Amino acid sequence: MPAPIRFGIIGAGAIAPSLCRAIAKHPRARVEAVFDPHEGRQQALADEFAIPLRPRSLAALLDDPRLDAIYVAVPNKFHVPYTLQALAAGKHVIAEKPFAMDMDEARQVAAAVKRSKKLWMLGMNRRFPAAMQQARALVAKGAIGEPYHAKGRWQRRCGCPRLQTWFGHKAISGGGCLLDIGVHMLDQTMFIAGNFAPLTCSGSVYGKFGHRGQGEGGWGKSDRDPRMTFDVEDFANAHIRLQGGLSIDLDVSWAAHMPKPNVMETIIYGSEGTIWVGQDEAVAGGKESILLCTRKKKEFVVEESPKAKIAYRHCDRFNNFVNAILGKEEPCVTIDQALAVQAVLSGIYRSSAEGREVDVRAELRPAQSRTARA
Ligand SMILES: NC(=O)c1ccc[n+]([C@@H]2O[C@H](COP(=O)([O-])OP(=O)(O)OC[C@H]3O[C@@H](n4cnc5c(N)ncnc54)[C@H](O)[C@@H]3O)[C@@H](O)[C@H]2O)c1
Repeated sequence: MPAPIRFGIIGAGAIAPSLCRAIAKHPRARVEAVFDPHEGRQQALADEFAIPLRPRSLAALLDDPRLDAIYVAVPNKFHVPYTLQALAAGKHVIAEKPFAMDMDEARQVAAAVKRSKKLWMLGMNRRFPAAMQQARALVAKGAIGEPYHAKGRWQRRCGCPRLQTWFGHKAISGGGCLLDIGVHMLDQTMFIAGNFAPLTCSGSVYGKFGHRGQGEGGWGKSDRDPRMTFDVEDFANAHIRLQGGLSIDLDVSWAAHMPKPNVMETIIYGSEGTIWVGQDEAVAGGKESILLCTRKKKEFVVEESPKAKIAYRHCDRFNNFVNAILGKEEPCVTIDQALAVQAVLSGIYRSSAEGREVDVRAELRPAQSRTARA
């Protein structure tokens, strides 16, 4: 039996068990170590999943030759520094979203990935549910013709992560709902449409609830800390233009007055049909599913849950990452796609601050041509 891919986890918070559960099902991988400065959370995760190594420093984790791959599952500010350190230590890296705090950081990772012989992947789990992969496959095979407009909406009525933790504190999170769940919705909309070539965006962000101690949903295991004041947005919207004429409208909220507790849907309008992917009690019993709206013989036809062959049958980002290390699958998320999504997110914040539409192409040009044009 060939040696397994041995994982070390940085950060034993609310999301870390997702790796442990997925890796437990993979015959060629195991979780070997976990580090968290909070010893209680480190021990609790290690005990729950029988993780043998429990180093008490980041350096001890990264320098351990028994580890092949690192899962970066810490507050956003540490994603890039730890990714760079892990790549420099010769490890494969799967990092949590959002990619980075800003484009400068994102470009540092892109440069390090280019130099490294190791695999780096952003863990965009929302690309992997079967409905998401089927939607991508249907659009790719032309089921809706040419996509020209898309809507991505993830709105929670009362879903701010635990207040007075790092999630709402910009110096550590980099932003609020846009970076936390907007990143998923933007990424999956661009993924289904098959277009990662943004041109411009116009966006607005608002903070209306968290600042007043309202809208808490409760996600997150970090302890409350009164220094973690809420200074990020809890609502964001944007209009994005992409190459080829596609446009995307994005609506995101952690908190808002709305009839349903959660709305999550992506709609792609095409020349020959429209595809809807989402969760709605009226469709497939509320399970994430697809509606395909087309016209056949002059009649409008709505197909519920149309099937299409999916690329990743395990439906899991960690399985894809391990299989890509083993050379058995292509990594689903590429660095260029991650840079494109990050450029739009940074552009939306800039657009909101400046009160105008902004060009995001400059952010994606290689460093030399950016300097030449500056
Ligand atoms: N992919 C998804 O759907 C998804 C869902 C939730 C969270 N996330 C992402 O995962 C990351 C972690 O989120 P979470 O919900 O687990 O947060 P959390 O607050 O529950 O846990 C964060 C953990 O990181 C530890 N930590 C803090 N600073 C650290 C440092 N400098 N070095 C090492 N560990 C440190 C904390 O002690 C804590 O145990 C975030 O970036 C978040 O955006 C992704």
